[in-house]
Amino acid sequence: MKGLILSGGSGTRLRPLTHTRAKQLLPIVGAPILHHILDSLEVAGIRETVILISPETGDLVRESCGSSWGSMNLEYVVQDQPLGLAHAVATARPLLGDDPFLLFLGDNVLKGGIKKYADEFHSKNMESMVLLSKVDKPQQFGVAIFEGEKLVGMIEKPKNPPSDLALVGIYFFNNKIHKIIENLKPSNRGEYEITDAIQGLIDDSVKVHHMRVDGWWKDTGLPEDLIEANKLLLEDVQTKVDGVVSGGRITGKVIVEKGAKIENSYIEGPVYIGKNSIVKNSNISAGTSIGKNCRINTVDIGNSIIMDNCILSAVSYPMSNCLIGEGCTVKGNIDTRLNVVLGDRSVLEVPD
Ligand code: TTP
Repeated sequence: MKGLILSGGSGTRLRPLTHTRAKQLLPIVGAPILHHILDSLEVAGIRETVILISPETGDLVRESCGSSWGSMNLEYVVQDQPLGLAHAVATARPLLGDDPFLLFLGDNVLKGGIKKYADEFHSKNMESMVLLSKVDKPQQFGVAIFEGEKLVGMIEKPKNPPSDLALVGIYFFNNKIHKIIENLKPSNRGEYEITDAIQGLIDDSVKVHHMRVDGWWKDTGLPEDLIEANKLLLEDVQTKVDGVVSGGRITGKVIVEKGAKIENSYIEGPVYIGKNSIVKNSNISAGTSIGKNCRINTVDIGNSIIMDNCILSAVSYPMSNCLIGEGCTVKGNIDTRLNVVLGDRSVLEVPD
């Protein structure tokens, strides 16, 4: 089985961060989402993966992932325009050949990886399989339609959802999907929808199997989703302190990478602190990931993502639910609780 990871798209909902990078390269727990996905494909035993990229951000993705990932070979294909998930599959077809494949949306994160689902697909010699997850707001997702236990259809973002089981952005197909996609028409929003292609399989009497995911699943389309995915992934880390800690106190699960220094600070895990970052006189609380080479001094922050090379200094009110891009500066007497999304290299500074 091959892997196909979709790393194109526009990422409009994550602007301004996606003005300067692919959304699949946004970090959670110290590594781009895409790297977490590549890890899970490798663990599932996949040896050939195609990454679909966009003309705008494709080079950044190639640079970040390279030509191999552990024992997995990586190839790239460019989608000229983001015309939908089924269009993306058609674009990758020459590299997929007639092999069965796993389609993974490059902004999705699934607890525990995909090995058990891939094994099920493989061992039962299935023609297709979708993963489903119970969600609070099915109106925002592709939703499964059941007759009893049988999956009989799916509907994209329904006003009146037929169930609360959303399609996770991870799908398994054999080559029958390609013929269906060749004959697909664009939807009302002008995209070639993968849900329409799966409906086409069902209409053609191809059995579409389904499995419910047993842990959490997160589609990181919005800033709050990314912050939530970071928090959920942090809950599974094991404590590892390779940096230097002096003064203060550390509780809970905490990763402090090599070269990092924590001085006179309270760290209440789960928290991730990247290589060579210095944290002084600060409170860092649960759900926070700090990237590489940051300087954090006299700051109280929780449930946030701070990317590489940031300076946060003497911020007078607590910060929470923040998504701070690379190379940002946040400083001074900001007299309100900060809950912000900052694009790369932004400066938010209030002089005394
Ligand atoms: P979406 O989140 O549906 O789309 P998007 O990335 O364009 O985001 P936004 O709505 O904020 O503008 O895409 C899901 C994943 O699939 C994401 O990783 C991008 C990828 N994708 C492609 O690679 N090609 C496409 O044509 C589309 C629509 C998405």
